[in-house]
Amino acid sequence: MKILKRPAPINVEIPLDPKKTIMSKTDPKGIIEYANDYFMEISGYEEHELIGQPHNVIRHPDMPKVVFKWLWERLGEKKNMHAVVKNLAKDGRFYWVITDFEVKLDDTGEASSYFARRKAPPKKTIDLVSELYRKILSIEEARGVEVAEKYLIGFLEEKGMTYDEYIESICFTEEKKPLDMKDLQYHKRKGLFVRMFK
Ligand SMILES: Cc1cc2nc3c(=O)[nH]c(=O)nc-3n(C[C@H](O)[C@H](O)[C@H](O)COP(=O)(O)O)c2cc1C
Repeated sequence: MKILKRPAPINVEIPLDPKKTIMSKTDPKGIIEYANDYFMEISGYEEHELIGQPHNVIRHPDMPKVVFKWLWERLGEKKNMHAVVKNLAKDGRFYWVITDFEVKLDDTGEASSYFARRKAPPKKTIDLVSELYRKILSIEEARGVEVAEKYLIGFLEEKGMTYDEYIESICFTEEKKPLDMKDLQYHKRKGLFVRMFK
């Protein structure tokens, strides 16, 4: 099968409807098996172009490699993950999403597929994450992925959070205040992300 060529990026954002979810499902190798209508609408691809392609068809060059390294390590451990991702549409425009990655296991306990449900992140979340990713990417380009990974580990250690916890902490509450660790525990019990992705 022909692998789609990624377009040259242009610095124009695609606005997302905060009420809608962009969904896709892949096989264990990350080959797209299903994508919903909103995925098609936003990415600009049609089903026959997208289904059967590797998911990196929408990979944006502004995304640091280490984020996907951690994603695949986590999925390999059969654990779910939340990540903020900048994606590339067919026409070169971009869109930011907060993604809930979920592992589906078969009867033998092996991963049979992965699901990704994406929502529009708050503007402030995008500002903070794009600044962090810009730094990580510049370290990756200058020093390589391993050094960039150490930087990200240090950044999170300073906050005493995992990557997922950091992402949750910069998703804003109704009062538009960032969550601190105490709020985070509260929202975890209440299922902040469950509510967001329900
Ligand atoms: C269910 C699922 C959904 C994914 N969604 C995206 C996505 O929206 N954007 C993206 O760039 N990569 C996504 N990926 C990760 C890609 O498979 C890939 O690792 C990433 O684009 C980096 O590409 P590379 O490994 O060729 O550098 C997803 C993976 C899985 C398993």
